[in-house]
Amino acid sequence: MSKEIRINAFLAFAPTHLSPGLWAHPRDRALDYNSLSLWTDLARTAERGGYDALFFADGISQYDVYGGSNAAGVRWGLQFPRLDPLLLVSAMAQVTEHLGFAVTSSVSYEAPFLFARRMSTLDHLTRGRIGWNIVTSFGQSGSRAIGQPDARPHDERYDLADEYMEIVYRLWEESWQDGAAVRDRDTRVFADPARVHEIRHEGRFFSMQGTHYSEPSPQRTPLLYQAGTSRRGKDFAARHAECVFLSSPTAQLVARDVADVRARAAALGRDPASVLFFALATVIVAPTSEEAQAKWQDIQRHVSLEGALALFSRWSGIDLSKYSPDDPLRYVKSEGMQSAIEAFTVADPERVWTIGELAIFNAIGGKGPVFIGSPTEVADALESWKAQTGIDGFNLSHALLPGTHEDFVDLVVPELRRRGVYKQDYRAGTLREKLYGEGHAHLSAPHPAASHRAATIEEPDHA
Ligand SMILES: Cc1cc2nc3c(=O)[nH]c(=O)nc-3n(C[C@H](O)[C@H](O)[C@H](O)COP(=O)(O)O)c2cc1C
Repeated sequence: MSKEIRINAFLAFAPTHLSPGLWAHPRDRALDYNSLSLWTDLARTAERGGYDALFFADGISQYDVYGGSNAAGVRWGLQFPRLDPLLLVSAMAQVTEHLGFAVTSSVSYEAPFLFARRMSTLDHLTRGRIGWNIVTSFGQSGSRAIGQPDARPHDERYDLADEYMEIVYRLWEESWQDGAAVRDRDTRVFADPARVHEIRHEGRFFSMQGTHYSEPSPQRTPLLYQAGTSRRGKDFAARHAECVFLSSPTAQLVARDVADVRARAAALGRDPASVLFFALATVIVAPTSEEAQAKWQDIQRHVSLEGALALFSRWSGIDLSKYSPDDPLRYVKSEGMQSAIEAFTVADPERVWTIGELAIFNAIGGKGPVFIGSPTEVADALESWKAQTGIDGFNLSHALLPGTHEDFVDLVVPELRRRGVYKQDYRAGTLREKLYGEGHAHLSAPHPAASHRAATIEEPDHA
């Protein structure tokens, strides 16, 4: 396992992501979430700090489980309003050279053909720095909003996702052969029709016929992230994901999931070390321990515990407004994010969480740990988590935006660099090459995307 610690910023294009209430803090800029400069400034800071990517969560379902309505979600601005992160990427790419951009998009809402074109567009415009966090979406309000029947049952969503992947792989990898866009001024041929192919698909969930509307982009298939750690979610990750995002409160749970997904990937013939893991964490750092503790106390005074419970209610599918703070949290099977409720119940039989404890824990940075301390203490904690779990790095959430990231870049990154566990500079090339090295611009066998590409190269279709 590499010693290198990788860092992404974990974000939402919204006033609140995972630290409810903090947009009201006097040093927070999240109320400017709908202005470009907040994000272009953040992108520059992240690149100065050698982050691999800005990772945007996304979704269109309301936070309406808590109290049976979206009132708390609206009042606190809980990931609502939320704008489309794909539309932010070009501006941030323009002010950076190396930083990657991972955007979440659901397989439940948009035809694969349209989505494949939008990702190819971003891969062209970022010169190969785009990633996709593949999600399946479980909120009923999102389905209703786009006129679909209720969200599908949990495992069926993953069946649909497998089929969706098959189609987008074929569009990205198979529809245009290498060299098809000849762009020849002399012969006045833009693209060779013999090397551009229509894709036809008839399946259980999708039926389509079309030629990819983008010539091959630098990565073809964007770098693939996945989050979702039910059994079915892990099988999906093992098959498709290059990077897996985990969010659990303890190192033990993260270690269990890392080992499990790597074993499943190995069983499918993939190199388990090629699946990179990022764990959710939030860092509150200051030059000294005491100052960091004071910063944390100050942040605590601004958090919304109601907001934290409303977030968790949506993830778990349990209306936590019905309980008092001293009630224990119990496992309930839901059609939502099974890993969320499991992490705080059956996964750790040693610990019974009360609703009040859960609210306090979740109020800063959601379900992941919060590391508070001096640069040395934080670097120790990050190194220790990495060693205990086998992860490759962290998706860092924030308390204050952009202050939490500015602190990390100014205080923790130099300490990690001094220890030799953090990149001094970016590698050349696409996002995939920055993570995997030269020659890895495209997915290669035995990843399922690569099989489509090989097929067209060996057997050109002249239809
Ligand atoms: C860490 C993490 C981050 C997620 N981020 C998103 C997101 O941004 N948008 C979304 O619609 N779903 C998101 N999901 C939901 C998953 O895509 C999936 O629908 C859900 O977790 C249920 O699958 P599971 O039971 O396998 O975890 C996330 C899940 C996890 C665990």
